[in-house]
Amino acid sequence: MADLQVEFCGIKFKNPIVVASAETGNSLENIKECIDHGAGGVIIKTVGDMPVMQTLTNNSKYAILNDRGQPIKGKVNRSFFFYSRSGYAKEHYEDWIPILKEAQTYAKQHGSHIIGNIASDTMAGWIKLAKVMKECGIELVELNYQCPHPTDYDTPTVGNWIAQDPAMTAELTRQILAAADIKVMVKLTPETHNLSAVAKAAYDAGASSVAVNSRFVGFAVNIDEAEPYIGGPAGIGGPWVKYLTLRWIHEIYSTYGIPMSGSNGIYDGRDAIEYFMTGAKIMQVCSVLMLRGIEWLPRIIAQIDQFLDEHGYDDLEAIYGVATDKSMSLPQLFEAEPVYALIDHDKCKFPKCAICVKMCFYDSLKVGTDKINSNPENCIGCDLCQNVCPFDALRMTPDKELALRMS
Ligand SMILES: Cc1cc2nc3c(=O)[nH]c(=O)nc-3n(C[C@H](O)[C@H](O)[C@H](O)COP(=O)(O)O)c2cc1C
Repeated sequence: MADLQVEFCGIKFKNPIVVASAETGNSLENIKECIDHGAGGVIIKTVGDMPVMQTLTNNSKYAILNDRGQPIKGKVNRSFFFYSRSGYAKEHYEDWIPILKEAQTYAKQHGSHIIGNIASDTMAGWIKLAKVMKECGIELVELNYQCPHPTDYDTPTVGNWIAQDPAMTAELTRQILAAADIKVMVKLTPETHNLSAVAKAAYDAGASSVAVNSRFVGFAVNIDEAEPYIGGPAGIGGPWVKYLTLRWIHEIYSTYGIPMSGSNGIYDGRDAIEYFMTGAKIMQVCSVLMLRGIEWLPRIIAQIDQFLDEHGYDDLEAIYGVATDKSMSLPQLFEAEPVYALIDHDKCKFPKCAICVKMCFYDSLKVGTDKINSNPENCIGCDLCQNVCPFDALRMTPDKELALRMS
C-alpha cells in the first residue's frame, strides 16, 4: 500500500481527495458521511449572507444528460453532463457555528479536515463570514469567487464576476486577510480568458492557494419539448471538462508554482492522478459523488492507491507535477526531430482495411496494388495513422532510411 498523504497549505491530508463544496457538505449528517467514507477533507456548502441565494437553494434543479443531450436514467457512466443550479447553504450563517464545531471534532477524530467555504455580496459581509470561520477554528477557508448563478446582479463583489477580474480578486482577498487571520483558498471560475492572471492576483494578495476551478455556465436544450432543461441557463460540468481545466493547472503550476486544488470533471482515481501529475496537490470531487453516491469516494481513493502500487511508486508525492515538468514549450515542440511512418505489412490487413490512407492528409500513405505504400518524403510524422490503425501495424521511426526501404 502506497503512502497517499499530501501536505497542502500547511495541512497534512491522509489522502488527496477532498469532497468539494456542494450538497454533499450541506449538513452535519452529510459531512460525517463523507468523513466515514474516507475523505481526506470535506469542504462545506457555501455559507453566505444573501437571502436570495438561500431561496435559490430551495429551488435547486438538476438535469443529468448523456452526450446526445438526453436525460440519463439510472446508473451514470463517465460520459455525463451535469446541468444544475443551486444556491448557498439554506441556513443562516450563525446556525452553521455549532455544525462547524461538531464537524471539526468529528473530522479530527477520523484524521480528516473541514475546509470552510463562504460568499457574500459586500466587502463587510465577506469579512464577517471569514471571521465566523476563524472563530469556529477552521484552518482553511475557500472563498467562493466563482458561483455560476448570481451573474445577473449588478455588483462586482458577487458570484463569478469576482474571479473574472484580477483587481477585484486581489482587493477582496487582501481585505479579508487583513481583517481575519485565516488561510484562504480562492476558488476560480473558468468563465474568463485570463484564469492564470486571476490566480496570480489571488496569490500575490496573500491567498495560500487557489482552487482550479469551478464549473462553466451553460445552456442545455430539450429538443423534444422545444425548451431549455431546468428552465434556463445553469452550471454545467462532467468528465468531458477535465482537459480544459488541466490546461490551466499546467499553466499556473509551470508559470507561477502556486499551490492548487484541482477540480472539475474528476470521475475516478485515474482522473485524480492526471490532476496530481499536472500540478494540483489535492483534488476536489463533487458531481460524481452526487450522481453515484458517497460510496464512490472510497473507490476513487483505492484506485489511486492501486495505480501507485501497480506502477511501483512508494508514495503519491513521487508523481507530483511530473507531467507538467516533462511538458515541452511550443518552440521545442516545433523543433522536434522528424519521424516517419513505418508499416508492418505482416500485421496490416489491407485490402480489408485502409483507414490510415483516409486519415493521411499529407499524401504519404497511398493504396497500392497489393499493399499500402508509404512515401517518407511526404510524411510529416504526425502519428495520426499510428493512432487510427486498429491492427497495430504502424509505428513511427526517426530512421528515414529504414522508412524508405520499407515503403
Ligand atoms: C449541485 C452543485 C452544487 C454546488 N454548490 C457549490 C457551492 O455551494 N459552493 C461552491 O463553491 N461550489 C459549488 N459547486 C461546485 C463544486 O464544488 C465543484 O467545484 C464543481 O462541481 C466541479 O467539480 P466536479 O466536476 O467534481 O463536480 C456545486 C456544484 C454542484 C454540481
